[in-house]
This record gives sequence, structure tokens and C-alpha cells, in this order.
Amino acid sequence: MYLLKKIKNKLQLNYKKKKWPGLINAYKQHLPVSSKTPIISLKEGNTPLIFSQSISDLIGNDTKVYLKYDGLNPTGSFKDRGMTMAISKAKELGSKAVICASTGNTSAAAAAYASRGGLKSYVLIPDGYVAQGKLAQALIYGAEIISIKGNFDKALEIVRDLSEKYPITLVNSVNPYRIQGQKTAAFEIVDDLGFAPDWLCIPMGNAGNISAYWLGFKEYSKIKKNLNLPIMMGFQAAGSAPLVKNIIVKDPETIATAIRIGNPVNRDKAKVVRKESKGDFQSVTDEDIIEAYKKLAKEGIFCEPASAASVAGLIKNKNRIKKRSNIVCVLTGNGLKDPDCAIKNNDAVFQNNIEPSLREITKILGY
Ligand code: F0G
Repeated sequence: MYLLKKIKNKLQLNYKKKKWPGLINAYKQHLPVSSKTPIISLKEGNTPLIFSQSISDLIGNDTKVYLKYDGLNPTGSFKDRGMTMAISKAKELGSKAVICASTGNTSAAAAAYASRGGLKSYVLIPDGYVAQGKLAQALIYGAEIISIKGNFDKALEIVRDLSEKYPITLVNSVNPYRIQGQKTAAFEIVDDLGFAPDWLCIPMGNAGNISAYWLGFKEYSKIKKNLNLPIMMGFQAAGSAPLVKNIIVKDPETIATAIRIGNPVNRDKAKVVRKESKGDFQSVTDEDIIEAYKKLAKEGIFCEPASAASVAGLIKNKNRIKKRSNIVCVLTGNGLKDPDCAIKNNDAVFQNNIEPSLREITKILGY
């Protein structure tokens, strides 16, 4: 009886240990936190790395393509990784309010984590260019939303100014804690695969995330023996490609509103990543993005258009890939964030206004 109880307790303990504690607790030793940091978490991180047979087949040459599906984070995007850190540190340092500029996802994550931590959140967004799911999130999580007659770049300029003049913590990716949290995605990929991929394909807006991944891979390579670093491939939408063209784009335009950014704040950091990793920055058209978006959905994976840029970019480089490569494409946000895009861009058969009769429906089914 006693032995049975002991075994049961042990099993329960193992089960508890296996429960994901959120990324700060999971990777504490690699993050700037201490016992004094109040951890504001929604159990973010630990997102699946999904092998894609169809994209692997498309690339050919025995390539294995994996998708890091970060759209499965609590608010549906990779921003949760950065926000758990940014909000926890803001709270630790006594901040009462946070502010960000956003194309949507940052605002959703900031609003959620700020609410959870008991902080006020202010978000500046570009009028008419935030996907509906993201706007709904910022509203319901309780942010104060200021929609400006200008684009993301203008909004960021304003919030940077405000946070310098007033006691409000900026939680855009210029906040170093954001990058610290986001680097954990690279740790997870290495933990899952047992090695780093040959290529990492990632969409770029402000280029915070590509910088965070690179930091993560580099840090892990210091503690894990024989870890090769990946070639970092950053993709931008053709109408919004300041890093590819090495210019400031005044009026960026793309269907991928998340990355509709003309003047990325992490420009210099991104250039270092490209150089150090021997990577490349390239653009993909909105048509390429939608094609990849649909291909992913055919395999059961629904991401937002900006995320599909990573797969669109990979497909474009099909002929450059070495035999038996392992490639990870980062899917930064969930498809449900932007339902309008899916409704407008699909190959489904959708017949409406049909008489509810067996005869009518049998006829439609073709029996
Ligand atoms: N993918 C998605 C879904 C995003 O929301 C963003 C950025 C990116 C990629 C690009 O990441 O800026 O680190 O290069 N979204 C920000 C926002 C700008 O406000 O939500 P990045």
C-alpha cells in the first residue's frame, strides 16, 4: 500500500514537472530576472515545431522543412514571448503604465500582459490598417487605444518621445527585455531538433525578432557543444521592404499589415545578423505571400499573411538550398488574427442562400 502511494506520488511529481511553466520559469538561467521579479505569465512559449511534408516535398533535395508555429502563443503571436519579459520587468521597476506603437500584435500582447500585471496600457495604431482580430484583442484586454492618421513608423516616433518625457514604459522591441524574451524561441527550436537548423526563414518588420533569434542561437551555441549557427534569411513584403532596399520607405503597402513598416528601428542590429550569419534579406510579393498562406492552410496550418512571408521566401530560394538541409520557417502569428484576409483569399467552394431541402443539397453534392 505504502509503496503504491509512493509510486503514485512520484508519477504525479513527474507529471507536474512536465507541465510547461511559461518561458521565464523555463529559461530563467538565461534571462535577466531574479527572485525579486514578479513573473507576469500566461504560460507563453513551448510552441510546436511542426514538420511540413508538403513544403519539404516542394523544396525537394531531401530537405526537411519545419514550421515554428508561434501563432499558438496565448494572444496568438510571438509577441507574448517578449511581452512576458517586458511587463514583468516594468512591474519590477515600479512602472504603472506601458505604451507601444503597433500594427496589431504588439498591442494585443501588451494589453493582455499589462492587464494581467495590473498595469495600464496605451497603444497607438495606424488608422484602418490593423487586422480585426488584433483590434478586438486590444479592446477586450482593456488597452486605451489611440488610432492615428499615420502609419506605424509615425506612431513609433510619437511613443518613443512620450516614453522619454513621461513615466510610461515603452514596450516596443527597442525595449531590451522584449528581445530577451523572444530569444527563447531559438532555444526551443534547438531543444526540439537537437541541433540548430541550416536556415532560419523569418518575416521582418521592425527586425526585432530576427535579432532575438540570432541572439538566442548564439547564446545557446556557447553552452551547447557543436551547435552550428543557422543562416538567417529575413523576408519583407515587396511594397514594404526598407531592409532589402536599404532605404526608408515613406508609404509602405502590403496585404501583410503586420509588417507594413517603412523605417525599422532595429535596422542596424538586423544588418549585423545578416553579416554574422552569412544570411540574406529578400522581398516577396503579396501574391507570393498569399500563395504560401494557402499552401500552409492546405496542410492544416492557418497563419496570418505576414507569417506566410517566411515560407514564400523559402520557396523563392528553392534552387539555392543544399541537399538534406534542415530548415525552420517561423510562423509568427495566428491566422485568426486576420479573418478578412482568409475570407477574401481562398479557393473554397462556398454556396449560400440554399434551400434547406435534402433534394437540393443532394444535388449540390453531386449524388
Ligand atoms: N510577424 C508578425 C505576425 C508581426 O506582428 C510582426 C511585427 C512581425 C512578423 C515582424 O516582427 O517587427 O520583430 O521584425 N509586428 C509588430 C506589431 C510591428 O506591432 O505587432 P519584427
